[in-house]
Amino acid sequence: MFKIIKTIAMAAGLISVFSLQSTAYAKTAVAYFSAAVNVIDPSYGVDGTTGSSMLLPGDVGIVAENIASRVQADKIAIKVVDLYEKNYDAVVNRGGIEKRDQTHVALADAYDLGGYDVIYLGYPNWWSDVPRAIVTFIEQNKVQLEGKTIVPFVSHGGGGEALTTNTIKKLLPSTTHVLEPYVVYYKNVNDIQELEQWLDQVKVQLQSSNN
Ligand SMILES: Cc1cc2nc3c(=O)[nH]c(=O)nc-3n(C[C@H](O)[C@H](O)[C@H](O)COP(=O)(O)O)c2cc1C
Repeated sequence: MFKIIKTIAMAAGLISVFSLQSTAYAKTAVAYFSAAVNVIDPSYGVDGTTGSSMLLPGDVGIVAENIASRVQADKIAIKVVDLYEKNYDAVVNRGGIEKRDQTHVALADAYDLGGYDVIYLGYPNWWSDVPRAIVTFIEQNKVQLEGKTIVPFVSHGGGGEALTTNTIKKLLPSTTHVLEPYVVYYKNVNDIQELEQWLDQVKVQLQSSNN
């Protein structure tokens, strides 16, 4: 009898530890925009002739995956309705026009962020700023992002974070906490050591804001 009670108690203990952990993990998301997941081409990711930036998972996609697997987060790829041509120069041009015209770039999904407390938000530097899809993403989720923590990460071709962090801060509600971004040159997106050092700093900041 004692054995049965002990077994039930142990199982209950395990279940409560498990649900605590999964609740904690479920509160973090890694949302990211990358050109590679937004180009027209059913065979993308296979064809290497059109430029490395157009290949899946994309520079930002690589970092997003590395973060998501380390912080046990859900990964959300931000996708536009009107996909880009699978041609680097064409994407560069269209990105420039969208920036100039402050285009509203429609997204393929509403991306419900209601259940998350911490959202890592990744994007490439496009013309020294965030891609317009990121503007839509924040505007669409503005209410849900109140009081949340945004942890930005940005990949670039030499221009650094440029205006990107400032732009997202301006767009986000004043109650949203924005941490220091991870800024990575596109050739260094596989540098795990740098990423992990930054993730350690993020962890400390998240823990101190919880206390
Ligand atoms: C539309 C467009 C504009 C860009 N503008 C800049 C820029 O102003 N400064 C910069 O350093 N890199 C720029 N880049 C390079 C990207 O930031 C870089 O290649 C990034 O790693 C791409 O990430 P992705 O593969 O996830 O899309 C631009 C790329 C594109 C497609």
